[in-house]
Amino acid sequence: MARLIYFLAFVLGLVLIMNISKYQANEVSNEKFNFDKTADKNLKKKEEIEKLLAHKEEKVEEVKVVKEGPLVELTTPQLQSGHDLYKKCIVCHGKRGQGKAAQNAPAIGGQYPWYANTQITNMQKGVRVNKIMMPYISRLSAQDIADLSQYISKLPYMGRK
Ligand code: HEC
Repeated sequence: MARLIYFLAFVLGLVLIMNISKYQANEVSNEKFNFDKTADKNLKKKEEIEKLLAHKEEKVEEVKVVKEGPLVELTTPQLQSGHDLYKKCIVCHGKRGQGKAAQNAPAIGGQYPWYANTQITNMQKGVRVNKIMMPYISRLSAQDIADLSQYISKLPYMGRK
């Protein structure tokens, strides 16, 4: 046991000596502590910061926060119902009724309500064939179609009031 302790102490001493010799090899230079240079650098940085800050003050603009309201003001139960029903149509005709070329879906926002109504009713009856849309309209009641048409007519895409 004692031998082991001696051995460990020896190894520890060896490691210490090796490190001390390495430490001595480190060059000591005052270059890194050149206070004049550092002061110079700091001054330059300070000037840069001041320049940037002055610039910033010039560029401050008033930022107007615009609260985005609903696309269509849902002022009547019919519009509310149309809005709810229209969720199924967004995938092809878009939120604003702007249509989507990739779906061959035309813009319908702002369309006359009587026109949309006739078209959807005709599609439902098969007078106008629209296989793509059929699953989405086959179960709509006449009232649903009227509600949808009213809502579509208020969508902003074509901008008609
Ligand atoms: C899967 C895609 C798709 C969905 C979903 C869809 N549509 Fe369509 N819609 C079309 C396509 C495609 C046409 C054009 C069909 C044609 O060429 O006759 C069309 C045409 C129309 C038209 C006639 C436009 C015109 O100018 O003649 C109306 C109105 C319409 N859709 C309303 C709706 C409503 C309301 C819904 C939701 C209940 C709906 N669509 C859901 C694809 C879709």
